[in-house]
Amino acid sequence: MSSERLFSLRNPWFTTSVAAIVGIAIFSAVVGFIWLPSAQSDAPFQGIWNAICSAAGVPQSWLPGSTPVVSSTQTSTVRLTAGLLADPGPISIGRGATLALRCTMCHGERGVSNANTPNLAGQYPVVVYKELIDFQTGARTNAVMTPMAKNLSDQDMRDLAAYYAYLPKIVPVRSSDGAQAPEIVLTGAPMRNIAPCASCHGGIDNKIGSPWLNGLPAAYIKAQLLAFESGVRHNDISGQMRNVARQMTPEEIDAAAQYYAAAGTH
Ligand code: HEC
Ligand code: HEC
Repeated sequence: MSSERLFSLRNPWFTTSVAAIVGIAIFSAVVGFIWLPSAQSDAPFQGIWNAICSAAGVPQSWLPGSTPVVSSTQTSTVRLTAGLLADPGPISIGRGATLALRCTMCHGERGVSNANTPNLAGQYPVVVYKELIDFQTGARTNAVMTPMAKNLSDQDMRDLAAYYAYLPKIVPVRSSDGAQAPEIVLTGAPMRNIAPCASCHGGIDNKIGSPWLNGLPAAYIKAQLLAFESGVRHNDISGQMRNVARQMTPEEIDAAAQYYAAAGTH
């Protein structure tokens, strides 16, 4: 069999196999570049040209009018260090007390709220400071707190943090041996990669930036855990709390909320 005859259009084997390969190539291109990308519901994938570009990995910003595939959400800009707000002094606390007059309506006269607003009394100063900055930058959003934080200066936030940290915390009334603590708080859930709450929030250890939870209203704790779970709240540095909350069962969320809130029944 000579090569001349093999690659001739008159050779039916040759023409059939070339046609089959071309056919398969066109079919795969349609499936890979148009059909599969179009099956995704995201807006940037709509339309044949967008589908082809996204399958080919062409940056979406080249396409006018399309929204980026990866939307950037504001994350916390605060850098927590051990020395942050370490020694505020009486002037800062005094200024904070004056500024806090605007906050008493919701957070209570001495930082302890009777409604489902979080208590601030005795909260770690870095937590109050960080949360206020996050509300201001939009890393954390809340219809009430976003406008409240808007016009605070950096010094205002430091002073408010110093004042609230100076107020006495709600101390746990439960027995100190932690016998009533639910498993999720004391041991976490190692199989689901959940470290014990107490290893960051106090009890076993307190990691910088982890809020004092004892005495917070149960409804507030639950709402925050659900917000971390859904990603609505995403100001936790490195996703520490989102990773925990996503793995928790609804029963564990309820148990943790009840446990920490119970510490506040004075
Ligand atoms: C009208 C009611 C209202 C006022 C006034 C108010 N807050 Fe708040 N604050 C809230 C609510 C509600 C939340 C919980 C937000 C959420 O659910 O994410 C909150 C949350 C916070 C947090 C986060 C607490 C945490 O545990 O994460 C801080 C810090 C805070 N407020 C500080 C202040 C300061 C300081 C002022 C005064 C300058 C103030 N707030 C005034 C209602 C209020
Ligand atoms: C790896 C450390 C870590 C572990 C483990 C952890 N947390 Fe947190 N948690 C944090 C940090 C840090 C924040 C503050 C996030 C931010 O910057 O706003 C937080 C915030 C929270 C808040 C919001 C408090 C507030 O005042 O708004 C709740 C509620 C909470 N954690 C509950 C839990 C529970 C319940 C567990 C155990 C199932 C747990 N956390 C385990 C680090 C941790």
